[in-house]
Amino acid sequence: MTGGLRRGPAALAPLVCLALLPSCGSDPIFPEDYRSTFSPVSCCVYSIDHNLQYVKIWVNPESAAAYLASDNPLPEGTTIVKEEYDGDDDTCTGTIVGFKAARKEAGFAPDSCDWFFQDLKPNRHVLREGDIGSCASCHGDAMYAATDCTALAVRNSCP
Ligand code: HEC
Repeated sequence: MTGGLRRGPAALAPLVCLALLPSCGSDPIFPEDYRSTFSPVSCCVYSIDHNLQYVKIWVNPESAAAYLASDNPLPEGTTIVKEEYDGDDDTCTGTIVGFKAARKEAGFAPDSCDWFFQDLKPNRHVLREGDIGSCASCHGDAMYAATDCTALAVRNSCP
């Protein structure tokens, strides 16, 4: 009986995965140790557009200077990680409540500057990915066109 209960969900997993394709089992586009391998490119900033949370941005080291200089376009492979913290965590030192990430892939999504987006849980489990319409509706807006569909607001934002 107990064994049956243990086997049940495991046996169902492949079916659930099929139903959720294409996001099932996807790999995060940034490494687990990004805090020691990526460069911090913002302070802890309050975000109105990202669910009233505090956010902190990291970029892969090869692209950090280009990101800070707002190069347009950013280099192929640029990978941006946005950590999200509770709305009262104004030092971004508490628990991470989620991640948004983006990787520059030539030809992937021309309407939103070829960003491959990911929406992830705090444990980096991928919830949604790809050419996510809700992300592109902001990042693909004309307002961000001059900065390669990234938002300038948080750069050089340290008090
Ligand atoms: C309502 C508009 C809006 C939506 C929707 C939105 N973003 Fe953003 N995003 C912003 C703004 C503005 C910033 C600048 C930081 C801030 O204020 O949060 C930003 C910052 C980011 C950054 C940091 C890099 C940068 O400077 O742009 C990433 C990565 C990101 N968003 C990914 C996503 C993903 C993935 C989604 C969809 C799951 C998404 N965003 C949906 C407006 C939006």
